[in-house]
Amino acid sequence: MTSYPRIFAHRGASSLAPENTIASFAKAMEIGARRFEFDVDVMGDGTLLVIHDDTLDRTTSGTGGYYDKGYSDLRRLDAGRWFSDVYRFERVPELADVLTFGQRQSMMMNMEIKPCFGGMALRDKLLENLVVAVKDVDVEHFLVSSFDHDMLARFHRERPDIALGWLFARENQPGPTWQEGAAELECRAIHPDVNGLTQAEVHEIHEAGFQVNVWTVNTLEKAAELASWGVDGIFTDRPQDFPAEALAR
Ligand code: G3P
Ligand code: MG
Repeated sequence: MTSYPRIFAHRGASSLAPENTIASFAKAMEIGARRFEFDVDVMGDGTLLVIHDDTLDRTTSGTGGYYDKGYSDLRRLDAGRWFSDVYRFERVPELADVLTFGQRQSMMMNMEIKPCFGGMALRDKLLENLVVAVKDVDVEHFLVSSFDHDMLARFHRERPDIALGWLFARENQPGPTWQEGAAELECRAIHPDVNGLTQAEVHEIHEAGFQVNVWTVNTLEKAAELASWGVDGIFTDRPQDFPAEALAR
């Protein structure tokens, strides 16, 4: 039997339902996934919203950014119609809605903190409100990651008991290398982009003492190859393609 790494539904079951919505996380659960990833950022009034982009245009009925908007704007948005009429009226969830869903369904969650481009005061608000929001999460089933390593470091100072994943893309990133940065934050895992990833790199990350969770892997063939390299986890938009026993691991 082919073996696969642990599977995280990326933004939920995002090829079957609109990404980063409760519908998408519920779909992941329905098809048997035990883990999902989502993205979080902050609005001008401190509301934490679950969304990938820093603008509303692609995945909602709104337009423009949200750093100058707040809760009352959020409630008016439709986050499903762009995907399919079946999902019209789906909301952009607040972080609390997602945490409640994940905890009730006993799913493992990876919360990715998006780089907040709303200025220093809003970044402070993001951190402050995240720390309040995650107060009661089950730390055994919760992993926090970010490309924004300054934010990751600040989060770690507040909640050193929550496991971290160091996200990196292959283009040049400012700041320390993953070797230095992830060790300093005592990260559990490195989260590399699948594009350009080599078996040697996976080996190097393991040798340094970190798990390897790779994004975004949308074919069974690639997932099986990564498993043969010893990769621990993958993020996929297509959890429905995997056998039930792989999803259940
Ligand atoms: O957390 C893995 C992956 O989601 C990182 O990239 O752009 O899909 O949030 P992105
Ligand atoms: Mg993400």
